[in-house]
Amino acid sequence: MKTTLDISGKAFSLRRYPIQKNDTLQAWDAADEYLIEQLEQAELPAGSHLLVLNDGFGAISCWAAEKGYHVTAASDSHLAQISADANLSKNNLNSVNFISSLEPLPNDADIIVMKLPKYTRFLVWQLQQISQYSRIGVQVIAGAKTKDIHTSTLKLFEKHIGTTHTSLAKKKARLIFCLKEKQLGSAPVETTSFDVTDYQMTLQNHANVFSSESLDIAAYLMLKHIPSNEDFKHIIDLGCGNGVLSVEAARRNPQAKVTAVDESHMAVASASANLLKHGITAGRFDCRVNDCLNGFEPNSADLVLCNPPFHQLNTVTDHIAWQMFCDARRVLGPNGRIVVIGNRHLGYHAKLKRLFGNAQVIASDRKFVIVEAYKQPDSKGMR
Ligand SMILES: C[S@@+](CC[C@H](N)C(=O)[O-])C[C@H]1O[C@@H](n2cnc3c(N)ncnc32)[C@H](O)[C@@H]1O
Repeated sequence: MKTTLDISGKAFSLRRYPIQKNDTLQAWDAADEYLIEQLEQAELPAGSHLLVLNDGFGAISCWAAEKGYHVTAASDSHLAQISADANLSKNNLNSVNFISSLEPLPNDADIIVMKLPKYTRFLVWQLQQISQYSRIGVQVIAGAKTKDIHTSTLKLFEKHIGTTHTSLAKKKARLIFCLKEKQLGSAPVETTSFDVTDYQMTLQNHANVFSSESLDIAAYLMLKHIPSNEDFKHIIDLGCGNGVLSVEAARRNPQAKVTAVDESHMAVASASANLLKHGITAGRFDCRVNDCLNGFEPNSADLVLCNPPFHQLNTVTDHIAWQMFCDARRVLGPNGRIVVIGNRHLGYHAKLKRLFGNAQVIASDRKFVIVEAYKQPDSKGMR
């Protein structure tokens, strides 16, 4: 795996953080390189303010910081921010101004650089934010894999921002150039909702939440198998998304406190809103933006519920799921339980068995299995 990005006569050492053993995933892609080359050619005056949206692991922020530009990096991802910060520091560059996807965009950017996000709903939200906050005449340059830029994508830029055209493809990446001509008068609607009638839930979802327009089928299957036990004092919903599992866990275990954790700011805001909306009082839950259970006390939870991610940005990977399982083992108390749902082919049963020394399939259908494992009382916490 390459860890040095050589571009425009400079070399940047870039990794995805937190660093994994045997990591094979590069921390930048061809669209990052194309964007940086384009920005080099633009020869922006020293001190220009770059607004960078969705920088994957900090490649664009590092390049811009090295040029001495003033950088605001807006992202929904805590991991993206951790990575950018670590990469800036590794390259002896000053940190940049990080803002979350829930904060207003600055109105004085001289140019806006965007990596296209995965979800169209989030793209629309960000285009509306640009339309609402940035000044008329500012240029927006977005980059992505060619296969992810469709005519419909360009129409969204035209609709919300202004005149749009694209570049030629280069190493299977393309750029979108757009001039800010339109001004959104009022703030866009922040959340949309859907009902889960079997469970009397109406779930609010910010734009970048996983499965934000209907309930994930794995989550639906998992709902039925959330355990109830009067000895549970602390339940963790690891990778909580909109908090659907947290709501049901809190209902079934009225004596327990629930911690809902996600690396997405919008997921955590949605989970918090959904717990409150379904009658769970604020003192009973804590919703946190975090990388897995990093920083959680060992032996501090009785139950971990987990519907893990199997992607990081556009790459299929199970390293986050594995980190979640290792963290859960450390944070669970003796006899504490983890309940995980996943596609059959992901082999979570074998992984949990390896880690916990036991694992049982408690439910399954054609596509998914639900596996539970217990922390043996004599096992030592480890990561
Ligand atoms: C498959 S979704 C499950 C969401 C929700 N629990 C459900 O069942 O609908 C996985 C979630 O894990 C979150 N996630 C990904 N990487 C994470 C990390 N390093 N730490 C915490 N959460 C993470 C994603 O943002 C996503 O919301």
